[in-house]
This record gives sequence, structure tokens and C-alpha cells, in this order.
Amino acid sequence: MIKFLDLQRITQKYEDEIHDAIKRVVDSGYYLQGTENKRFETDYAAYIGSRYCVGCGNGLDALILIYRAYIEMGIMQPGDEVIVPANTFIASILALTENRLVPVLAEPNYDTLELDDSRLEALITPKTRSILLVHLYGRCAYTEEIARLCQKYDLKLVEDNAQAHGCRYTDRRRTGSLGDAAGHSFYPGKNLGALGDAGAVTCNDKTLADTIRILANYGSQQKYAFRYTGRNSRLDEIQAAILSVKLRHLDEDNEVRKGIANIYYDNINNPLVILPTRLDHGQNVFHLFPVFCEYRDELQEHLRQQGVQTLIHYPIPPHQQQCYREWNHLSLPVTERIHRQELSLPISPVMTPEEAITITRIINAFNN
Ligand SMILES: Cc1ncc(COP(=O)(O)O)c(C=O)c1O
Repeated sequence: MIKFLDLQRITQKYEDEIHDAIKRVVDSGYYLQGTENKRFETDYAAYIGSRYCVGCGNGLDALILIYRAYIEMGIMQPGDEVIVPANTFIASILALTENRLVPVLAEPNYDTLELDDSRLEALITPKTRSILLVHLYGRCAYTEEIARLCQKYDLKLVEDNAQAHGCRYTDRRRTGSLGDAAGHSFYPGKNLGALGDAGAVTCNDKTLADTIRILANYGSQQKYAFRYTGRNSRLDEIQAAILSVKLRHLDEDNEVRKGIANIYYDNINNPLVILPTRLDHGQNVFHLFPVFCEYRDELQEHLRQQGVQTLIHYPIPPHQQQCYREWNHLSLPVTERIHRQELSLPISPVMTPEEAITITRIINAFNN
């Protein structure tokens, strides 16, 4: 059986270092807002190429906090519009509706799977304040055209970097440093995964970083004095210490993912199965390896019968979810096609080339 993701094996890879890190925190007596947080925030900001990093509870909170801070800073207000890809994980959209901002769902390009920048300008209205760019599946979604539109219309470019730790736009610029602010999730299955929930915001704006830190600490800067009606969203010391260990290995882990992806690209040749476009080296860190097939459910069953576990990212697009009934009538054909056809193959830093080759053979033998 080839698991979709073997988290136990991933943790075992760095087991000794992780145990040392946990012991250090347990022995220290400091479990929140201590030196481990400071160290991780400093190292992660340097890695991403941002001036500031603020740890928080999870990736959804990171995005909520960014937009809430923009509202508290008077840059946005409830009712303002934010353009967001229609084919994202629900958290990108929840972060907006939680702040009573209005998501404007934009169709992706079927080939790149990312926002179709040629269709964005038509969506901009006097109420548009931001574009939320999602580097889905680990693919860099940034384009010069998106940056041009943000500059022209004075929009905040916010990146959802939950799935793309380590991804580059150019040799010198990583995702998470390309816009005005970025939210990162360290959910265990992510490229940089904690052993529990964790997240962070990166940005270059000190006022934004300070506001987020206050909002994430009940809205308080000074003990028992509350400036905002904030929330409790902190990165705990144990997770910060574990993330510091795993950050040191992130690039090598991403290289293993790329090696597996190359095997898929070079060997899958079933005409019924469409592979995602190949990006330049570094612009994809292969959080997931999605393939597309008209007979997706049959392909998934075929793989299951041969002992290969796969997942669908995601079976129901946000506009068809029960929680967003007001959008259920919308027609977003590219998004809907992606959701109907997508199947994610196993990919991880502990998968072996032999496992990937076995999977390509099984896929090539599929016919409907
Ligand atoms: C694209 C995207 N955005 C946001 C999130 C939310 O992150 P978290 O699960 O840490 O809240 C996730 C992952 O779960 C995600 O994949």
C-alpha cells in the first residue's frame, strides 16, 4: 500500500532533532511567546525574504489577522471587495467573510490552475481593495500583470502561502515576500509542517506586523489594556521549536518532492490523464501533484484497487458549499471542471522513486 502522505515517516526522518527541541522547551518552563518563537520568526522572515514574521495559531488565523489589521488601520472596511481565486481551499475565502469583506470569485486558468490575470481587470470596481493570491498546490501564482494591477488600482496584494513554503518567483524572491503581506499555514501535512496547528504572517510593514501581533494577543499590547477586540492566536513554543528544526531541512525536502514530480512528468503518458504545466525550476514546490481526468473517480478507484491512496483537492468548490448558499447559483465553469477532474497523487519528502515509478505504471495501465 502506498499512502497518500505518511506523516509518521516524515517525522521519523528528523526524530532526534525534534525530540531535542521538545525537551529544550519542556525543560525551559516557557511555553508561549518565548525564545523559540523569536528564533523561528527571525529565521523564517530571513528565509522568506521579509522584514517581519509574526507567528500565530494556524493558517486561517494568519489570513484573518492580515485583513482584520488592514481594517483596524483604516485601509479597508467591511463591505470592501477582495478578488480571490474561485478554486481555492475554503480558508482563503473564510478569512474574508470573517472580516465582512466581500470575496469576488475569479476563475483560474485551466492550464496554470492559478488566477487568470487576463480576466482580473474586469473584476476591479471602486470597492476593490485587495487581491488574495493563492499559490495553490505549491505553484507560484504571482505574475507581473497582477503586480501592475495592484499598483494601478492601489490594491493590497496578499499571498496565501499555505501550500508553497520555499517556492520561488525568481532566484532572489520567494513566495510570501512578493506582495504586501502573506499568510502561512504549518498544518502537519504542509511542506513546512508542525506537529499540530501553527501559522505565521510575513510582511515588510512594521505597523501591519505590530497590529497583527496585538490582535493575535486579545487586542492587547500592554497587559490587561485592550486596544482592539482581538483574538487568542499564538504559536506555542513547542511548535516553534519543531518548525525551526524542519525549516533547516525544508529545501532538501522540497528537492525530494521535485524528484518525485519529475518521475511523474517524465513517465506518465496515459492520454486520459492530463498533467499540470511544468514550471521553471523553483517555481513549484509540489505540495501536491494534481492530475486531471474526465474519469477521475474511476481512476481513483483503479489506483485504490492497486494499493495507491489518492485524495481530491477539492471535491466541492467554495461557491457550491452549503455555507455559501448565496453563491450556489454561480456558474464558474473552469473552477467546476478543475474540481470535477482533479486527483492528487502521493508526493512527499519520504516517498521513494520506486514508489513513484509503480504509480506511473498503474496510471499508464488505466483505461476506461
Ligand atoms: C490554501 C490554504 N489556505 C489556508 C489554509 C489554512 O491553514 P490552516 O489549516 O493552518 O488553518 C490552508 C490549509 O489548510 C490552505 O491549503
